[in-house]
Amino acid sequence: LHPSLQPSRVEVELTQQPKSKPDPSTLTFGKTFTDHMLTIPWNVLTGWGAPRIQPYRPLELEPSAAVLHFAYCLFEGLKAYRDSQGEVALFRPDMNMKRMNTSAERLTLPTFNGDGVIELVKKLIRLDKDWVPNEAGYSLYVRPSLIGVEPTLNVGPPSDALLMVICSPVGPYYPHGFKPVALYGTTEYIRAAPGGIGAYKLGANYAQGLVAQRMAAKLGYMQNLWLHGPDHLVTEVGTMNAFAVFKHPDGVVELATPPLDGMILPGVTRDSVLALARDHVAGKSNIPGLSEKLIVSERSIPMKEVKEAARAGTLVEFFGTGTAAVICPVDRIGYLGEDVHLPTGPDGMGPVSRPIWKHLVGIQTGTIPHPWRVPI
Ligand code: COI
Repeated sequence: LHPSLQPSRVEVELTQQPKSKPDPSTLTFGKTFTDHMLTIPWNVLTGWGAPRIQPYRPLELEPSAAVLHFAYCLFEGLKAYRDSQGEVALFRPDMNMKRMNTSAERLTLPTFNGDGVIELVKKLIRLDKDWVPNEAGYSLYVRPSLIGVEPTLNVGPPSDALLMVICSPVGPYYPHGFKPVALYGTTEYIRAAPGGIGAYKLGANYAQGLVAQRMAAKLGYMQNLWLHGPDHLVTEVGTMNAFAVFKHPDGVVELATPPLDGMILPGVTRDSVLALARDHVAGKSNIPGLSEKLIVSERSIPMKEVKEAARAGTLVEFFGTGTAAVICPVDRIGYLGEDVHLPTGPDGMGPVSRPIWKHLVGIQTGTIPHPWRVPI
């Protein structure tokens, strides 16, 4: 009934004032934006309007716009990487589009044709291609978002929405290698609850988490570790998914992460780490340096198990995964008044995360051919 999102209707307005490109070494995450942006309006009666690629500029919203009151706001994060030939490709954009539609449904915002938006994002990045850094560890962070903009103080499914995509050149999360981080095991706040919004990439998840991050920082930790329930199940590391590696008495090494039970964000890096490890175990691909005696599990990880394994020397490593940092090793967890110390290698990473990280970055930057890399 309603017009679906049609990439062919795109209207392009080029900037008359191209900005100067920043020196990559000065980049702070998410502070610099490219010349253009993509916007697509939606209305409940007329459906998706003409997509528009236009100069990056402020939006005009009424103060009554629903998003400003009731947080009808979701977003995505994905990256475009340059390969050694200078060609630019997105990493698994289909995963972000799928999740974005899931988030939209959760907020009664409109869903859309993900392939169509990928086409438009490619067009946007082709225009701003010179903004994609080529230094190792650098990329173009692409930030789609969808907001409800109906001017109303009433709580209800917004009659008007706006899908946007902006792009930001970014460097490595930690400029001096994989500096392990210390986490504070948060028992004062929770990130998610059954039936809640934890499995969706909604702005509200991040806003409500800051108070725990601030408390962690006050106590001298870099990030917080979200725990859930009476068993203090490990759920997420700040804004990243959590992984632990255990060594079992029979020599088997277990790569474990919490299951997608409705409280865990289905991270694209999480999924990639699991898929690569499982392909390696199944003999479908080989990750050099990764143990063959590996098992991969999605299961609950009580904090007690982490603490006891760390003490017994059977905890191999603990890390977070996310698009922004890719893999983030952890060397310490403050938990119920004591510090649990976790092993890290000389480069910060451990024997499981290091080879997987290398392989993943090889795919992202095009040195290892893989269908996950989608050329613009
Ligand atoms: C991540 O990539 O880990 C994120 O969650 C993005 C963050 C900037 C909100």
